[in-house]
Amino acid sequence: MKKRLQWILWAALAVLLIGGGSGLALAENGDVRGLRGTVPLNGSDQAAEPNRWMPDSHGLPRNFLQQPPLVPHQVDGYKIDLRQNKCLTCHSWSKARETRATKISLTHFRNRFGTELSDVSPQRYFCTQCHVPQKDAKPLVDNTFKPVDAM
Ligand code: HEC
Ligand code: HEC
Repeated sequence: MKKRLQWILWAALAVLLIGGGSGLALAENGDVRGLRGTVPLNGSDQAAEPNRWMPDSHGLPRNFLQQPPLVPHQVDGYKIDLRQNKCLTCHSWSKARETRATKISLTHFRNRFGTELSDVSPQRYFCTQCHVPQKDAKPLVDNTFKPVDAM
């Protein structure tokens, strides 16, 4: 019984060694590429060029009917928390005229039960949940989305 257990342990060790060894060989052959490419683990890589925010512009095209419009300006430092909502200092109905920002639409005053509220619905309070600013980054994967119906 003891011998048999010993044998099993040896076999397990052999499998581990062979498996680990062939993994190493693959990495050396360049068949397996990590995110670091060919830069060795103890080497230092060049810092990636940071993607920049797109310059401020006027409204960006929407790809489908229900799409929340993309944010055509930078939003760095625009806080949205319990006490303040920077977006609303321009986009609320009371400020939109003087700031020339687009008013939030009436849908933003409706709660999930369809009740019309006199202020922005809590559901719509965290604007950047749906409205995202844009960077000049190359997409990581191709997007083949096509809208069913052009507006
Ligand atoms: C300083 C004022 C200001 C602040 C603060 C501001 N915006 Fe804007 N925003 C504008 C103006 C002005 C426009 C219109 C740009 C144009 O079309 O000329 C605009 C446009 C937009 C649009 C495009 C609307 C459309 O119909 O295409 C979205 C979406 C938007 N902003 C979201 C946000 C969000 C989200 C925040 C907070 C993170 C925010 N904005 C903060 C001034 C502001
Ligand atoms: C749950 C998602 C969601 C959240 C949160 C949200 N929005 Fe929107 N927003 C939309 C959608 C969808 C549209 C387009 C359809 C519509 O007008 O309802 C839109 C439209 C807009 C428009 C364009 C209105 C027009 O007349 O063309 C502005 C401006 C805007 N949102 C600003 C904001 C701001 C500011 C906030 C935060 C206070 C906010 N949104 C929060 C989804 C959202």
